[in-house]
Amino acid sequence: MIQIQTHNVTETEHAGGSLAKKLSPGALVAFTGDLGAGKTAFCRGFLHALGYTGRVTSPTFAIVNEYDTELCRVCHFDMYRILDEDALYDIGWDDYFDGDTILLVEWSENVTGALPEDRITVDIRRGKAEDDRVITIEGGNL
Ligand SMILES: Nc1ncnc2c1ncn2[C@@H]1O[C@H](COP(=O)(O)OP(=O)(O)OP(=O)(O)O)[C@@H](O)[C@H]1O
Ligand SMILES: [Mg+2]
Repeated sequence: MIQIQTHNVTETEHAGGSLAKKLSPGALVAFTGDLGAGKTAFCRGFLHALGYTGRVTSPTFAIVNEYDTELCRVCHFDMYRILDEDALYDIGWDDYFDGDTILLVEWSENVTGALPEDRITVDIRRGKAEDDRVITIEGGNL
């Protein structure tokens, strides 16, 4: 288990970048935590660390955004509007598990039963001060 405290958005992006450097294609990262905690900021740092230079925005409305990085394809999901696991069939969830793609899943609470056992979990919560965040990373033999 790794626990990191951050005090601004840049530090959270850096935490995402550090995790990106430790993962291989096929990994799934399941995010949990408060609304507006910094999950998308963490994912932005993750993608930039893998060499993606464009904009990284929330996939809230698209459900999934796909990125080509120097390592592999990265698919960034936001399950906020996916209210049960049946709705995953509509987005072809199973097809994303091709072993060559990293999956980043925000609001994974909504689809817990559809996640693989060997996932990495990233929980982001608010801390004491306004911009403090506590990031807890588990799984994946990190
Ligand atoms: N330490 C911090 N880490 C990350 N974001 C921070 C921090 N302090 C303040 N913020 C602000 O909190 C917001 C985090 O937004 P972000 O979209 O990354 O969160 P999210 O968890 O993806 O939200 P949602 O639940 O809507 O998906 C940004 O406006 C950012 O500037
Ligand atoms: Mg988000």
